This record gives sequence, structure tokens and C-alpha cells, in this order.
Amino acid sequence: RPAQDARPGRPAISVIAHRGASEDAPEHTLAAYRKAIEDGADALECDVRLTADGHLVCVHDRRVNRTSNGRGSVSALELADLAMLDFGSWKGDGSANDGFANEAPDRQHEDPERTSVLTLERLLELVADADRRVELAIETKHPTRWAGQVEERLVELLTRFGHTNPAMRPDWTPSVRVMSFSARSLHRVRAAAPCIPGVYLMQFLTPRHRDGRLPPGVGIAGPGIRILRSHPDYVAKAHRAGHRVHVWTVNDTADVELCQELGVDAVITNRPKQVRIQLGLG
Ligand code: G3P
Ligand code: CA
Repeated sequence: RPAQDARPGRPAISVIAHRGASEDAPEHTLAAYRKAIEDGADALECDVRLTADGHLVCVHDRRVNRTSNGRGSVSALELADLAMLDFGSWKGDGSANDGFANEAPDRQHEDPERTSVLTLERLLELVADADRRVELAIETKHPTRWAGQVEERLVELLTRFGHTNPAMRPDWTPSVRVMSFSARSLHRVRAAAPCIPGVYLMQFLTPRHRDGRLPPGVGIAGPGIRILRSHPDYVAKAHRAGHRVHVWTVNDTADVELCQELGVDAVITNRPKQVRIQLGLG
């Protein structure tokens, strides 16, 4: 039974697939994002990092060691180096309920959509080719290290895909958001592409933001679920300050229920299918 909705008359909570349907498929792979779209996710979350030769790739960690069979920092490797690595096999052999259980392990490892590094460009293509509207929430990782290059390359790509020039389409509403723990990164994106909404991610609630205010020009608050567990009144405060609230990473049923009761606008989750079912959307 869905918990009581604290948002009567407001749109349903948006479900954002964290690194794709990353409970079922290796995070940040095309397979994980295709599964998320199949599962009905409203949006896809991804982390982006810049390679040594200037490509934005969807990788969470600074190093590739956890999610591939290689070693080293993304920033020290070129796209061709990353293309040689297997980004899928660490996720298990299909014996678990991962949506690939009917395929033999060696078949899964041959599937390039499950094992290849994913560029942001390819992810933007996937979203552009989807047969329904699918939004994208892109997180810039460690942007300070690159003195603006991450954001510059990001805005370049978003412009190429038609996400930064609303004047050309009268019915346009943004389908891409940029998220960051760095207010400076959000500021850089806003300066170059004012129509792209920013999400300010927060791991802790600092005194500066406790009343619901965000850095100048940022419209959406992105608190971790732990913040809502300890400060449930934060959502109402952010709403009063005029901000939407997108919460990460919401996987447990109790947390989904809490988000629903508090009236958040979006949940970011590894399991979009199950969360949609719990919210009565699936
Ligand atoms: O969506 C925000 C959330 O992804 C931030 O944490 O570590 O999963 O990137 P992390
Ligand atoms: Ca992230």
C-alpha cells in the first residue's frame, strides 16, 4: 500500500535511475540504462569524468579499479584505454536475480552493452532515441580538478544535442539537469547554459542550508536520504524557499515511504522498477 502522499494535487514523484538500473545490471553501462528505461524510470542519473584525451565518460569512482578489470585513474587514461576494459564482469555471473539470469555467464561477458565503458555522448544518443521522454540528471565529479573543462565539454555536448537552446523550440521544457556537490561547478554550467537546471547535492545539512536556501541561481536541492531521516522538516523548508527536492539514494522501502510522506519531488534509486511499484506507479 503506498504511503499517504503529502503532495495532494502535485505531480507524482519522479523516479530517477541511479547509475541506470544498477541493482540489476553493472552501473553506468548501456545495459543498465536500457533496463532503467524499460522499467519506466522518468530519468537516468550518471556521473561524468573527463579522460586524459578530453572525453566525458560515465564512471563514478576516480579510479577504474572497482568497476572494471583495469587499474588507474580515469583522468590518466584515454578513451581507447578504457574501451579495452571490461566494466561488467565484476557485477556477478547472472546467478543472482539481475535480469540476465537466463544467459550463460560467458554470453553476458560478450555483450558489449553490459561490459563497455559508456561515454556521455552515447548516453545522450540513447535518451534522444527513446520512444518516450526520458530525462537525464548528470553529476559532475571532482570538477575543481579540471578548472572548468568538465563543464565546458558538458555544455558543448548538451548544445550539440539541442539541450541548451530553448528559443528554437517553443514547447521546450528542460529534460537535462546538472547535479553537483560543488556550487562552483553548478555556477559554471549556469553561466554557459542558463536554461539547464542545477541540483545542489548535499551529504550533510550545513547551517548555511538548514533553512532550505541554496546557492544563488540553483533551483533544486539534492539531499542524501540521511539528511531527511534526521531533518524531516527540511523538505517543507526547501519547498517554502521555492526549491524542488530530489533525494538520493533511496533504495529501502522505509525510505521510499518517508520520501512520499514528506512530499519530495524525485527519488534517485538503484531499483526504479521496485520503487515505482511501491509508489503505485508501476
Ligand atoms: O545522485 C546523487 C548521488 O549519486 C550522489 O552520490 O556517490 O552516488 O555519486 P554518488
Ligand atoms: Ca552520482
